[in-house]
Amino acid sequence: MHSSACLAQVQGGHSLTQAFEAVPSALRPGVQAISLYAMRHWGLASAWRAVALRRQPADAWVSCHIALGLLLLDAALIENGVDVSDSLQAPLGPDCPRYQVHTLVDQAVKAVITAKRGKPAQGLVNAVLRRFQRERQTFLDAVKDNRVARYNHPEWWIDQLELTYPSQWQAILSTSVVPPKIVLRVNRRQSDAATVVAHLREAGHACMALSTHAVMLENSTVIERLPGYQQGWWSVQDWSAQQAVGLLTLTEGQRVLDACAAPGGKTAHLLESADLEVTALDQDPKRLSRVAQNLARLKLDGAHVTLKAADVRDLSAWWDGRAFDVILADLPCTASGVVRRHPDIAWLRRASDLPKTATLQAEILDALWQTLAPGGQLLLVTCSVFAQEGSELARGLQQRHPDAQPLAAPGHILPQASGPDHPSGQDGFFYGLFRRQLIEKH
Ligand SMILES: C[S@@+](CC[C@H](N)C(=O)[O-])C[C@H]1O[C@@H](n2cnc3c(N)ncnc32)[C@H](O)[C@@H]1O
Repeated sequence: MHSSACLAQVQGGHSLTQAFEAVPSALRPGVQAISLYAMRHWGLASAWRAVALRRQPADAWVSCHIALGLLLLDAALIENGVDVSDSLQAPLGPDCPRYQVHTLVDQAVKAVITAKRGKPAQGLVNAVLRRFQRERQTFLDAVKDNRVARYNHPEWWIDQLELTYPSQWQAILSTSVVPPKIVLRVNRRQSDAATVVAHLREAGHACMALSTHAVMLENSTVIERLPGYQQGWWSVQDWSAQQAVGLLTLTEGQRVLDACAAPGGKTAHLLESADLEVTALDQDPKRLSRVAQNLARLKLDGAHVTLKAADVRDLSAWWDGRAFDVILADLPCTASGVVRRHPDIAWLRRASDLPKTATLQAEILDALWQTLAPGGQLLLVTCSVFAQEGSELARGLQQRHPDAQPLAAPGHILPQASGPDHPSGQDGFFYGLFRRQLIEKH
């Protein structure tokens, strides 16, 4: 019942993270598991719903409940031994909520009653699910050439990726629906990976060190209860995001701007890495307060760091005119690279968001470039796989600023599921690094 309400919230334009806030905390882990699973298979669920109903129910809760019910019923049928050779569903992973077929239909109908959606909705849910049970193959056949159902992303998103990555787009899309592993970045001012691994294992958590200061957890868990969280030994940060700070050449006393800082993952990483003078800027005061909280937990609040709430583009509101040696520009973006952990993103974004976001990113970069010292470095970061928010954005920066000299950087990092070569997998990111050249005036 709560999951259908959360999915209806996404249909109304809200994120799952926001929707989960309204769920009673005791029920939250279960609701999160079901809702995330549904979002990762929403293309298929919606396509099956369209097979069952020519018109979507006007009540968003009922509409989402039917799609969710179809998805869970299919999983239950697979569990029960139905032939899956023709199925679009990936083999059921450990993230799939498991139900018995007979209880699932009963519970789905009871949830309609509890949620007070009315008698007709009750009958509709019952009829659709029972029809799927009888005619599963018809549903499968009806959507087998439907790309949205196959890849579980909107059509425009699939088209963009196919255009940019002619040989990799299918792998990117299938990776993006696999739940990620949790990766910790160890606070090198407090501990190291070997020590953290020892404490986690002692507390019964399977994990492994990925490097001297990165640890991967095998299973998802409540982060706040893990050893070392309260003490500030580590932060949760995906492997790809952990690469940002290592790309910069940092020396003691440098003036560093973390331009889009909240919630402070990279601010903390900067402060853990060297004794720097850091300005952490973000336009959202509420999100900026989370930077302060995170730095306090990590015992980095005594370091030289100033937090400022302002729009980067309004230089007069925040810049004192002293140039920065280093700028980390972790730009607002569509977040298309982190769909593995936030599958609702794929269904919340619209094709029209992409050019709008790319324009905002270029404006932010142009403002930042004015504040960079000659000889200074700027790292352009987005957690997106779209070229408009990566390679094309970097090219635009160079075209508008002839003194922007590109340095070696990874460029687009594509999302990857965990596997033998890469135990944690990784999110999709873009990294471009630039040095501001000294241009001699004649
Ligand atoms: C990708 S997030 C930053 C993540 C952060 N660097 C970290 O590692 O935890 C982008 C941030 O940019 C901020 N932002 C968006 N537009 C901005 C603007 N015009 N000026 C300043 N901050 C902005 C958002 O509030 C958001 O917190």
